[in-house]
Amino acid sequence: MNTFAAEQLSYWIATAPQGEPRPALERDITVDVAVIGGGIAGLSTAWELARSGRGVAVLEAGRVAAGVTGHTTAKLSVLHTLVYERLRRTRGPEAARLYARSQSQALRHAAAIVDELGIDCDWEEADAFTYVQDAARTGELRAEAEAAREAGLPADYVTETDLPYEVAGAVRVTGQAQFHPRKYLLAVADELLRQGAEIYEHTRVTGLKEGEPCRLTTEAGVTVTARHVVVATHYPIFDRALLFTRLSARRELVWAAPVPADQAPHGMFITPEKGTRSVRTAPYEDGQRLLIVTGEHFTPGAGDVEARFERLADWAVEHFGKLDFTHRWATQDNDSTDSVPLVGPLPTAGRHTYVATGFGGWGLSTGIMAGRLLTELINGREPEWSGLYDPRRLGTVVREAPAFLKHQANVARHFVGDRLPNVSGGSTDDIAPGDGAVVLTGGHHSAVHRDDEGQLHAVSARCTHLGCLVAFNRPERAWECPCHGSRFDTEGNVVQGPATRPLERRDI
Ligand code: FES
Repeated sequence: MNTFAAEQLSYWIATAPQGEPRPALERDITVDVAVIGGGIAGLSTAWELARSGRGVAVLEAGRVAAGVTGHTTAKLSVLHTLVYERLRRTRGPEAARLYARSQSQALRHAAAIVDELGIDCDWEEADAFTYVQDAARTGELRAEAEAAREAGLPADYVTETDLPYEVAGAVRVTGQAQFHPRKYLLAVADELLRQGAEIYEHTRVTGLKEGEPCRLTTEAGVTVTARHVVVATHYPIFDRALLFTRLSARRELVWAAPVPADQAPHGMFITPEKGTRSVRTAPYEDGQRLLIVTGEHFTPGAGDVEARFERLADWAVEHFGKLDFTHRWATQDNDSTDSVPLVGPLPTAGRHTYVATGFGGWGLSTGIMAGRLLTELINGREPEWSGLYDPRRLGTVVREAPAFLKHQANVARHFVGDRLPNVSGGSTDDIAPGDGAVVLTGGHHSAVHRDDEGQLHAVSARCTHLGCLVAFNRPERAWECPCHGSRFDTEGNVVQGPATRPLERRDI
């Protein structure tokens, strides 16, 4: 095993360079629809809106297709681990059918876009599998296969897969797809520009005043006036309805290594066992395939990330043989408390603000689905599945209670615990090069990183979202907030929301 030669970079980002940044927004503009966020959900929404004749501006805080979408495992599948039996049980068979239909339609729609634009994005059809190795769990898989079939999917229960190890049972859904998400999305962004849409990068939105029209303000002090606003920032940056109480953030780690093509398993695989393991392959150099293994999910800011990377690498070697890893990276997902994404009008906001979030690790099909759904809603139509995804849904509150309470207990622990004196301490002398720690200085919590040259970099340790204490992720050299998943670089700049303001610099 050679894990140390691996580049700490997403394979998708490494193999689809982006060129010069698109301009930042430096003047006030007026537009029909402002879409905040340039990932799969934001660009898909902008694409559908532009196609329907709407004037659109995309406002991206960093680079388009470089955030969560640039770090995904890029499966376009409607088999979302074990969602159908749960939906059938909690919201009825019709909800499961609508979920299956909306996600299947998104997959077909993506295939049509690839065809129409002639996008070279390594598109491949593949069957999707959810499997278990523990024989005691095969009943769950049988029930999932039955629920998925009843929902209208080409699903069956199997006991053999193309994986090089035994499974006790698996749900298979045929005719799914996998692709290179950045090749796809960068081509969509280029086409959007050709169609007259505006895309601004390095344009962080920090304020929203709802009304008719709505007004957005950016970090640079520019105003965007828009009739409609779509918040597609992964975790919503504007959340007057407290959606964050129904969302929990989770990070997952990814390793990639080439394998001989004749040893690469055909299909896309996931198991809920062992803290989730996901497997797919992608085209690679010299007739090889790139094995991509994902797992070890954890709350941002929690635990030893390096040890988790090692554990996942060991698992991959144990199951696939000797591997020379080329890339490793991490991704972040938001789980909703009832396992159904939140896509539609932003609760308690004005009538013209919409949100797409809570994709639960299935952001590609759901992001494309969200683009179509939000466009329909903005254009005054209601697809049959709008109620299923409606963020204002209340009927599921009681059924969501266990997940809701578990998430809130974790957040409350940080809200309260992080405000107690001496919650953390230590001295900057104890911080090794490349590492970071929260220390008490002058009665304040400071997040201190020591770089490879021994220089200290200090910022406030209070997350600018709602004030929890951040923790250091050493392999990724980032400060992470365990409450809602905001992430900051070592200088305190926001890498990932919901926070929109940087951590304050500190002298130390
Ligand atoms: Fe909410 Fe940090 S992300 S308090």
